[in-house]
Amino acid sequence: MNAPWRGPLGLTADGLPVVPGDGIASVDAGGEVRGRATPEAAQLLALLGPVALATPERPFVVAQLAQSLDGFIATASGASRSLSGPANLDHLHRLRALVDVVVVGRRTACLDDPRLTVRRVPGAHPARAVLDPSGRVDGGAQLFAADGSRCLRVGTGACPSHVEQLQVGRTPRDVLAALAGAGFRRILVEGGGETVSSFVAAGVVDRLHLAVAPVFFGAGRRGLALPAVGSVEGAHRPPARRFAMDPDVLYELAFDRGATSTS
Ligand SMILES: NC(=O)c1ccc[n+]([C@@H]2O[C@H](COP(=O)([O-])OP(=O)(O)OC[C@H]3O[C@@H](n4cnc5c(N)ncnc54)[C@H](OP(=O)(O)O)[C@@H]3O)[C@@H](O)[C@H]2O)c1
Repeated sequence: MNAPWRGPLGLTADGLPVVPGDGIASVDAGGEVRGRATPEAAQLLALLGPVALATPERPFVVAQLAQSLDGFIATASGASRSLSGPANLDHLHRLRALVDVVVVGRRTACLDDPRLTVRRVPGAHPARAVLDPSGRVDGGAQLFAADGSRCLRVGTGACPSHVEQLQVGRTPRDVLAALAGAGFRRILVEGGGETVSSFVAAGVVDRLHLAVAPVFFGAGRRGLALPAVGSVEGAHRPPARRFAMDPDVLYELAFDRGATSTS
């Protein structure tokens, strides 16, 4: 079943996500859908409800990656555009529209020069933050564009006056504390592999949206790289749900935040 990933999703006055015109349904923070909804609308609510319903008590972190069947998030030269299909890209833009800030690592900013704006679905642009401790991302990068959205460099270095600088330690916990201090509650860690891996390994991710595209790269940039397990039985198996985003499949992994924390 393919969900209408491009369809509208709104929030009620109570913060509940609703799919207009699809009946009366609600979703809880765990992604459990109740009420009347088409199967497609129910999928949309189930996947996006936990992000939309994040509470202000602590930051909610959703991380995402799209990877090839053989586990790469980019070719050896660093190209990753068009890895996943239009449905997954719509989903990524919808995630951006639901969060307060999108975070990327320095290498993604340098290699992709992403805009990190919402263009494929209705919704507001989030703030943009790059993890760039040594100030290697050029001040003219698109994520620093003066387009009305907040832009942040987590690190040092010369940049345009409208770009905020957060100088903090390197651990994901330090970064999240600084982002929370800057007023951000819903946080999307959009890549690349090293950044997402460090956040997952630190036990600070609530949900990972991992899209698998039916393509082989043979070589390239690795996606998730986590500490090795000693045995199959000892492997970490977080609760997982699957969502068809034709031709890709998205796995939603629900982490018990803090349970695997190492930093
Ligand atoms: N398929 C996808 O979904 C997807 C999404 C995004 C990007 N990509 C691809 O991913 C590739 C880049 O990924 P990557 O793994 O090489 O690098 P990356 O994660 O984009 O960037 C890693 C760098 O970010 C900085 N960094 C990360 N965590 C930090 C932290 N907690 N505190 C401070 N700095 C931190 C470090 O910069 P310093 O080295 O300066 O210390 C680190 O070397 C590109 O080819 C891009 O196209 C794919």
